[in-house]
Amino acid sequence: MSSSIPAATVTRRGFLALGTGLFAAAVLASCTTPPRFLTPTSAPIRAAERARGGTGRVTTVTLRAAPTQIDLAGTTADTWSFGPVPASTIRMSAGDTLHATVTNRLPTDTSVHWHGLALRNDMDGVPGVTQSPVGPGEDFVYEFIAEHPGTYWFHPHVGAQLDRGLYGALIVEDPHEPLAYDDEWVIILDDWLDGVSGTPDEVLEELSEGMAGMMSGSGGHMMMGARSDLLGGDAGDVAYPLFLINGRPPADPETFTSSPGRRVRLRIINAGGDTAFRVALGGHRLTVTHTDGFPVAPVDSDAILLGMGERYDAVVTLGDGVFPLVASAEGKDATAFALVRTGSGDAPAPTASVPELGRAVLTAGSLTADPRVALAARSVDRELRATLSGSMMAYDWAINGHRFDPDNPLTGALGVQHGERVRLRIENTSQMWHPFHLHGHTYQHSGSGPRKDTSIVLPGESVTVEFDADNPGLWAAHCHNIYHAETGMMTVLGYQNT
Ligand code: C2O
Ligand code: CU
Repeated sequence: MSSSIPAATVTRRGFLALGTGLFAAAVLASCTTPPRFLTPTSAPIRAAERARGGTGRVTTVTLRAAPTQIDLAGTTADTWSFGPVPASTIRMSAGDTLHATVTNRLPTDTSVHWHGLALRNDMDGVPGVTQSPVGPGEDFVYEFIAEHPGTYWFHPHVGAQLDRGLYGALIVEDPHEPLAYDDEWVIILDDWLDGVSGTPDEVLEELSEGMAGMMSGSGGHMMMGARSDLLGGDAGDVAYPLFLINGRPPADPETFTSSPGRRVRLRIINAGGDTAFRVALGGHRLTVTHTDGFPVAPVDSDAILLGMGERYDAVVTLGDGVFPLVASAEGKDATAFALVRTGSGDAPAPTASVPELGRAVLTAGSLTADPRVALAARSVDRELRATLSGSMMAYDWAINGHRFDPDNPLTGALGVQHGERVRLRIENTSQMWHPFHLHGHTYQHSGSGPRKDTSIVLPGESVTVEFDADNPGLWAAHCHNIYHAETGMMTVLGYQNT
């Protein structure tokens, strides 16, 4: 019970114990010489939060991270979660403040990151960069204004914890929502092995050994030969026994009920650790309206491809009957499955074929930003490059030649300057796709593409994005394959301390 926690264990924001890495270095440096980058607790970050204004309304939640057991269609799995898997959806309205008390009852450090939100930097939840880890038995209060409406989610930013049950949706509603719909469903996709075929920590250890781990066949989690044309070849590294929609495997599917003719907004989130999903609703076409929280010019499609961390919103007008909602694990020959029921009839089997999956599949490349959220035209002040490299055999994933090293940030010795227009070229020189994610900003794909915070970058290809450096702080940027990120494919973006 949170009420039994002695007040002394509560770590107050603005009064952080020293952690490790850049965060601690910055705090230490600030005692003597000015650090080269703005630190998460510096005045410009507080000023940026004040400038958000906000409604003054507060949404209060408690997230208790603890070991638990969940039932997966008859299989009991030991895992870690914030109560149910997924956690209860947090809902608020744009401009409102979230006050979230995270109580850590795990046997190890944790944190919560609010994926996709442009929030105040010291609330971003990245130990070693924006805060100290929340230790076992400790509490941490996250408090920030959620400025932009959209579909977001939350997960820890410690180790491979996001590949357990520690995740949930954060929906920021638009008080002036222009989209008309009758119902709204949150659909969270996940690849699952925790407590069924091992733990994410075991997988991380096994993969880190690379070729050696494979030869010794230590745990058998490494997946060879997952192939996808859509992903440019190798689809993933990890073999999962189960794929879930809203925490449920195909043998015990979630059932969404509605009536024929109703318009439903789907908010689809890929919370997987190592799996892209191809999503379709049997017998329907989807009108894609948003990606990563931000509106796009609507496009009709049969299916949507989501990399880890990506979100897509789509509106669909429901037919009469019982329909399969499927998320096929791209290149892994398995499927997550739920049902949509608007009438009587037998439920389709999870193995029933869904022709939409084999038709046109939408990816971010075919989207354009809604004019309301397109970046204003202006010249670029600074160009950055993130070169993604590494291989599955060596498991040496890196950005700009470095495994995560706070002393080698994305910006080199310089930071970006508050107010600059920045162009970032994300270049994938490896032979595998990566879902690249930047914290604290929603960039725009160049050439009037969509606003996004997580983008699939295919092997041998590059994606160029632009953003306004309008949210000062130290921001993580990394591959959202949790095993790639944890073994080194991560960096930070700093703002100059001028
Ligand atoms: Cu889901 Cu560093 O992010
Ligand atoms: Cu990656």
